[in-house]
Amino acid sequence: MFRYSIGIEEELRILEVRHAAQFLQFVRENREFLSRWLTWGKSIDSHDAAEAFLARGVTRLAEHGLPWVSIWSQGRLAGGVLFSPLDPLTKSTDVGYWLAAWAGGRGLASRAVAAMIDYAFSQVGVNRIGLQAEVGNERSEALAKRLGFTHEGTRREAWLADGKYVDLISYSLLFREWKTSKWVEYKKV
Ligand SMILES: CC(C)(COP(=O)(O)OP(=O)(O)OC[C@H]1O[C@@H](n2cnc3c(N)ncnc32)[C@H](O)[C@@H]1OP(=O)(O)O)[C@@H](O)C(=O)NCCC(=O)NCCS
Repeated sequence: MFRYSIGIEEELRILEVRHAAQFLQFVRENREFLSRWLTWGKSIDSHDAAEAFLARGVTRLAEHGLPWVSIWSQGRLAGGVLFSPLDPLTKSTDVGYWLAAWAGGRGLASRAVAAMIDYAFSQVGVNRIGLQAEVGNERSEALAKRLGFTHEGTRREAWLADGKYVDLISYSLLFREWKTSKWVEYKKV
């Protein structure tokens, strides 16, 4: 069974399609918080939509070895981490993440992302991990900087949010940079 410990009573588990009901409830409870920055925070509004979202993660794991995981804190579903498809030529992917509104401010997302990017680099053979934060998403940019991602620039009108084009701030982290990171301690247990 795939489990990462990221603290006392804090762990990561694979997100599977059978978790759809729980995941839908999580999205419903945190819709306002999530949908400010994540399009699926709005669009996941039924069991079918939750299943379809989670199925993408299962496919990503099967095809590219990149897991989508849920974050658990003291037995409560607290957030998650996902990867975009792996480019097989450049061995690059992007990481995404989210928390419940109640779970912020104590390093849970940073530790979860650190664990998963360590997995992608060391177990899957990824060379480059990108991270895109919408302009104004300061907490997401803070997480990128905290984990040692390098700011690359602004991708103008690279995303559609609420029917409007928005800019994305682009960050990346390379395997050779990660090897000397203080965060590399977050290993599989
Ligand atoms: C982006 C998001 C995950 C960031 O949440 P967060 O609470 O800022 O991130 P963390 O859980 O890593 O917590 C970091 C905070 O905990 C503190 N902290 C405490 N213990 C810590 C530890 N052991 N390690 C790291 N940080 C720790 C940090 O100093 C930081 O505090 P600060 O905000 O006062 O600077 C959250 O805002 C979110 O889910 N937003 C909606 C979805 C979203 O925007 N996703 C990203 C799209 S690009």
